[in-house]
Amino acid sequence: MDALKFNKIAAALLSGVLLIMVFGKIGNLLVNPNREVSNAYPIEVPEKIETKIKETKEIVVEPILALLANADIDSGQKISKKCVACHGFEAGGANKVGPNLYNIVNKEQGKADYAYSKTLASLSGKWTYEELNKFLYKPKLFYKGTKMNYAGLSKTKDRADLIAWLRTKSDSPVALP
Ligand code: HEC
Repeated sequence: MDALKFNKIAAALLSGVLLIMVFGKIGNLLVNPNREVSNAYPIEVPEKIETKIKETKEIVVEPILALLANADIDSGQKISKKCVACHGFEAGGANKVGPNLYNIVNKEQGKADYAYSKTLASLSGKWTYEELNKFLYKPKLFYKGTKMNYAGLSKTKDRADLIAWLRTKSDSPVALP
């Protein structure tokens, strides 16, 4: 074999090897065999599946009966300012957004001449001290569906003071407990 022939064969082999390498690289670029196959829609599997059982806490509104006798009626009157946008408190006063509240203690619930929500209209009890206490704590909590849009009075003393003042808005105030 002469040198020229040898060179030709060597060149052919070399370029063949080169071609294989080049195509191999291109192939790898197109389809990367090492790429991790990731899920297009990953499903998260939490390590610990916690079943959180929501504690259903009984909501107990702190009672006010014991506080009424020594309640601060002046403070109650001040707190009533939070109600006057919607309620009048004087005898014979007109309804506003909400019904007039003269004589409200021990009055029948949802029965005055006023367009009550179904929730209040369907009640058949009285606004006893404790009913008022529950209602004023958070109106929508115990009277779901009431249209009284008021967050409520979370402080027990505030409710006691206000209800003690409400009691005085009457011709003959209900006896203190
Ligand atoms: C944003 C207006 C609004 C405010 C503020 C508001 N109320 Fe009312 N209240 C209403 C409406 C409306 C009703 C009628 C609710 C229904 O029919 O569900 C109502 C109903 C009531 C009732 C039931 C009356 C009945 O005849 O059965 C009482 C008691 C009451 N409110 C007390 C209060 C007191 C006390 C405050 C202040 C701490 C207050 N409300 C603040 C709008 C209001």
